[in-house]
Formats: sequence, C-alpha cells, structure tokens
Amino acid sequence: MTNNDESPAPLCILHLEDSDQDHLLVKRELSRLSDPMEIHRVETLESFAQALDERLFSVILADYKLAGFTALDAWQVVVNKKKRIPFILLSGAIGEAAAVSAIKAGISDYLPKADLSKLRHVIQRAIEVQRVIIAKERADAELLESEKRLAGFAEHLQATIEQERASIAREIHDDIGGSLAAIRFDLSWIERHTEDSATLSHVSAATEMLQHAVEASQRIMMNLRPAVLDQGLPAALQWLVNNFMKRTRIETIMRSPQQIDHLPKAVQLVAYRIAQEALTNIGKYAHCSKVKIDLSDAEGVLTLEIADNGQGVSDAELVKPASFGIRGMTERAKAIGGWIDISTILGAGMAITLTVPLSTPEKATKETLPDDPSHFV
Ligand SMILES: Nc1ncnc2c1ncn2[C@@H]1O[C@H](COP(=O)(O)OP(=O)(O)O)[C@@H](O)[C@H]1O
Ligand SMILES: [Mg+2]
Repeated sequence: MTNNDESPAPLCILHLEDSDQDHLLVKRELSRLSDPMEIHRVETLESFAQALDERLFSVILADYKLAGFTALDAWQVVVNKKKRIPFILLSGAIGEAAAVSAIKAGISDYLPKADLSKLRHVIQRAIEVQRVIIAKERADAELLESEKRLAGFAEHLQATIEQERASIAREIHDDIGGSLAAIRFDLSWIERHTEDSATLSHVSAATEMLQHAVEASQRIMMNLRPAVLDQGLPAALQWLVNNFMKRTRIETIMRSPQQIDHLPKAVQLVAYRIAQEALTNIGKYAHCSKVKIDLSDAEGVLTLEIADNGQGVSDAELVKPASFGIRGMTERAKAIGGWIDISTILGAGMAITLTVPLSTPEKATKETLPDDPSHFV
C-alpha cells in the first residue's frame, strides 16, 4: 500500500491548475475553512509528479484540461505511484459523459468551477470516503490474516492431537501389551503344569478375560491411531464400517475402489477421521435405518460421502457454537486443500461429502501420520 494512508494535518492541498485566476478563486474559497490549510499549486505533469514524491497531500484538486495533458493523465500518475489521495476534478464544464468516465476510472469526485461554494463540502466528503475505504480495506486484511492464523492454529492442534494419540497408542502397545503377553505366557504355563480341575477352570476364565482385555486394547489403539490405514483407505474405512455395524446394528453399505494408489497419508488420515466423526454422529443423532458410504478417486478428485436416512438436522443446529465435530471436519478438509459439503433435509437424513482435488500433493505433506505401533500379543 502507501505512505499516504493517513491524511496529514493541517489540510494539505495539491492544486493542479494553469490559470492564476482560478487558483486564486479556489484559494479564496478555501480560506473560509476554519481549520488550518496549505495549498500547493502545480501546472505541469512533471511538477505534479514531483510534488507527489516530495510531500504528503490530503487531497488533490485538478483542472480537467491543461497544457498538453488532462486530469486523467494526472490521475494515472497518482495510480502509478500507488498513492491513495482523494482526487477531485475541479473544472469548467466537461460534459456529463466525461465526468462519469472520470469517476469510473477511480477519481473521487467532480465539481464544476461554477459551484465553487460547494468545494469545502466536496473536499470533506472525499476525504471521509477515502478514510472509510482505507479503514475497510485494513479491516478486511486484518480479518483475512486472523482467519489464516486461526486455520493455522486449528491445523497445528489437529497435528498435535494425532501425535498425542499415537504416543498413547504406543504406550498401550508397549506397556499394557507387554504385560498382557506375559500374563498369557504364565497362564499357559499353569495350564500345562496342573491337573487340578478347579485351577484349570480359573485359568480358563482368566484366559477368557485376558482375550477380552487384548481385544479392548487393540480397539482402543486402533481408535487412537488407525494402524489399519497402512492397508489403504478403503480397508481402513471398511474396518470402521464393520465396527460401526457391530456396535449399532445399522445396515451400512460401502462402495469403494479396491485400492487407491498414491493417496497422501495426510489425506487418508483426514478422510478416515471425517468418516469416524460422521459415523459417531449418525450413531448418536440420526435415528436411521441405513447408512451409505461412497468413496471415489475418479478424475483426480477424492470424494467421500457418508449419508444416512435419519432425522436430519436444522441449519441452526449445524452452526451452533458447540458443533466442534462438524467444524473440525471443515478445518481438517481445508488443511489438505479440500472442503466439506453438508446436505440435510429435516426428517430425510443427512449427507456429508469430503472433496479433495488430488492434483496438489504438496499440501498433503503438511499433516504427517505418526509412527505405527504394530499389533501385539
Ligand atoms: N447424522 C446426523 N443426523 C442428525 N443430526 C446430526 C447428524 N450429525 C450431526 N447432527 C447434529 O449436528 C450437531 C453438530 O454435530 P457435531 O459438530 O459433531 O457436534 P456434537 O456431536 O459434539 O454435538 C449435533 O449436535 C446434532 O444435533
Ligand atoms: Mg459429533
């Protein structure tokens, strides 16, 4: 932007005018201003450009027709120098068409010389409008910056959560997994070294409980860090679907290619987490009888749709401040260069679609998949 964003005090006016008399008239008119004011007159395009370089002006007043150039040439100088100074055409009659095209070109205002009494008002208005425009531009830029910071923060948070989950999964694997393996070893030793039926029945009960604990740890590990993703996204989603069906008894159909090659790990993880959250929501809220999951990588675009035939949700419910699940999906999708669409009809279900163009692989390296703690026991 420019060094001219702030209007200097006192009011400092650059007057492009080749008539002494007209300059005097303007000066006289402006001398009635209550605020202090300076007016600097130039006649040629060169001295105009030079004045812009040398000083900070609050406003430019320009005659239309000058010796060998017009106010539009002067305006072009202002634009080229990236100066943000209100530019008012102060001229004899130039015709409405010329005035309109001048204002279309970005000139702030036009005042015929015959209306000189309005000059003070026109200047004040032009300065105020410019101030508002600049303030709005600043606010927009600040908003954009703050949105960027927020998105970066959300991305960082998600990556931290994934790392934290992976490290908990690793601890379960190494610590609990190790202990369970040792218990299994000892139980089978006892089993081999006793004939006592009461002991054997306790061993058998303990082995059953042990199996339960092993499965629970595997399930918890898998939820914390989907090692199943190493077999590819379709297999991982199928694993989610099977668990979902077992838990909820809701009929779930998944359509997907057998395998999707060269899918960045970050995209796989985001798709997996979105499906996981969508299925959790369906289990909690949808009251549905059917779920359909569609995964496709046709035409270099990954799409994942999770649809239910449940009760749907109102828009108000979706944007309520506590909808962190849905917002999390949106942020995660954004972080890998994709987006989320939600369509829902009250009483007729809800569909969540993740779309990720796969032609921007550099985005995909942002969120890295943590190390894999492999299965145990
Ligand atoms: N499949 C669905 N069917 C009906 N309502 C849903 C569904 N998914 C989400 N919702 C509604 O949208 C809201 C926001 O979901 P979400 O952001 O995941 O937040 P949370 O699950 O923590 O309530 C839920 O509270 C629920 O009312
Ligand atoms: Mg949720």
